Amino acid sequence: MNVNKFINSKKITSRYLILKFLDGVFIDKKTVPQTLEVLLKKKIVFEDKDIAKAERISNFIFGHLKSIDSILFSTLKKKTRISVLNILRIVLSEIVLKEAPNYALVNSAVELGKVNKKTKYFVGLINAVSKKLIQKNKNNELFLKSNLEIGFKTYLQRNYSSKIAEKIEKIYTSSNTFDLSLRNSNEIEFWKKKLNATVLPTGTLRIKKNVKISELDGFKDGKWWVQDISSSIPVKLLGNLKGMEVLDLFSAPGGKAMQLISLGAKVTCIDNSLVRIKKLEENLARMKMKTDIIKTNFYNYNSKKKFDLVLIDAPCSATGTIRKNKELQYLFPQKRLENLIKIQRDSLKFAKKFVRDDGLILYCNCSLFLSEGEDHILDFVNKNKGWYYEKLTNTNKGIDKDWFNEFGFLRIRPDHLHDQGGMDGFFAAILKKNHPDKIS
Ligand SMILES: C[S@@+](CC[C@H](N)C(=O)[O-])C[C@H]1O[C@@H](n2cnc3c(N)ncnc32)[C@H](O)[C@@H]1O
Repeated sequence: MNVNKFINSKKITSRYLILKFLDGVFIDKKTVPQTLEVLLKKKIVFEDKDIAKAERISNFIFGHLKSIDSILFSTLKKKTRISVLNILRIVLSEIVLKEAPNYALVNSAVELGKVNKKTKYFVGLINAVSKKLIQKNKNNELFLKSNLEIGFKTYLQRNYSSKIAEKIEKIYTSSNTFDLSLRNSNEIEFWKKKLNATVLPTGTLRIKKNVKISELDGFKDGKWWVQDISSSIPVKLLGNLKGMEVLDLFSAPGGKAMQLISLGAKVTCIDNSLVRIKKLEENLARMKMKTDIIKTNFYNYNSKKKFDLVLIDAPCSATGTIRKNKELQYLFPQKRLENLIKIQRDSLKFAKKFVRDDGLILYCNCSLFLSEGEDHILDFVNKNKGWYYEKLTNTNKGIDKDWFNEFGFLRIRPDHLHDQGGMDGFFAAILKKNHPDKIS
C-alpha cells in the first residue's frame, strides 16, 4: 500500500505530516515549507485542513520543546531514535491540547510508528509511553511552558537584554492571528466591520486565524492583501511616493511592492525565484496592479536607469518571524548567516549604482540579528563618503517611538504590541546621499 493510502485509511494524515515536519527540522535540517515541498514533489498529497493542523501542532511543539522533552526524558528509561522521540512529542502535545480522545491518540501514535522503517520496531515502546503520558495527564503532571531555543535566547539576552528575551519567550507562542494591509486606507472602518477585525495603530487589520483567507470578503476583489503589521512599516517611514520611480530588488511575493503601487509609485520588481514570482504575479493580478517584473538574480541586473528609491528587503535569517516559524531557531540561524550577510552587503553596494543623487535606499528585513541590520548600515556609511542614514523618529502614522532604537533605526521585536498579539521582528533604515551638513 502506498503512503497516501495507508495514512488516509488509518486517519493519521495530519499526524504523518507533523512527524515529517519534526523529522525535517531535527534530522534533515529543513524548514517546514521545505519539507512540504519535498513531499509534494514525491506526489504525497494533503488537504489544506491537514496542512493547517500539522502546522499548528508542529509550531506548538517547536515553541514548547524544552518542557516537552523534559517530560519525555523523565518518562523514557533510555535514549531512543529521534523519529520515535518525535512521535512521542506529537502524542504528548496532542494529549495536552486535547486533540482527540486518549485511546484514539494512542492508536494513531502506534499506526504512525508503523509507517516508517525507522520506527516500526518501536511501536511497543510508543504504545507504553503514550499510556504513561495519559496517566501523567490525569495526575495533572503535564505542564508545558513556552520556551526559546537556548542558543537563540542567549543571543537575545546578550544583544537586547535578559528582560526582553524573557518577554519574547513568554509571549511568542500565543500568536493566533494574521494581518491585512488595505489597498485604500480610507476604508478601514468598513473592512473592520466586514471582516470582524481589530485595527492596529498603523491601520493594519488583524484577524483571528481560524478562517480561510481566500474565502474572506474583499480577497478576490483585491481590496487587501496579507501582510504582517511590521512588514508594512518600512514603507510607511517614507514620505510622499506619488510618481516616484522605485527599484524593488527582492520583490516576491510583493507585499511592499503592492504598498508602493497603492501609494502611487512606479515599481520595477526583481526576484530570482520562479515560484515566488508566480505568487507575485497572482497577487498583482488580484489587486489589478501593473508593474515591470524582471526575473533575474539581482547581481545580473543591468540598466542605465536611475531610481528615486531602491528598496532592499533582502533574504535574511527570518528570525523576526519566530511567532509563525518557530522551527527556525532549531536550524542554526547563526551558522546560516554567512551567505545571507554577503547577499545583504552586496545588495547595498549594488543599490548605490541605481539611485539618483537626491534619491534614497530603504534597507529592511525580518531578522533580529544585528549583523543583518545595524552592522550593515554603520559599515555602509563608514565606507561610502557622502552617504548618511536618516535618524528615524517619526511617530506619526501610528508608529510607536519604542520601535526605533538609539541609532534611529526601526527595530521592531516580537514582544512589541504584545497586548494585541505581538508582531514580527523587523529592521529598517533609510540611506541618503549628500547630507546637507556632511555628518554621518
Ligand atoms: C524577504 S523576501 C522579499 C519579500 C518582499 N519584499 C515582500 O515584501 O513581499 C526575499 C526575496 O528575495 C529573493 N531573492 C533571494 N536571493 C535573490 C537574488 N540573488 N536575486 C534576486 N532575488 C533574490 C527571494 O526569492 C525572495 O522572494
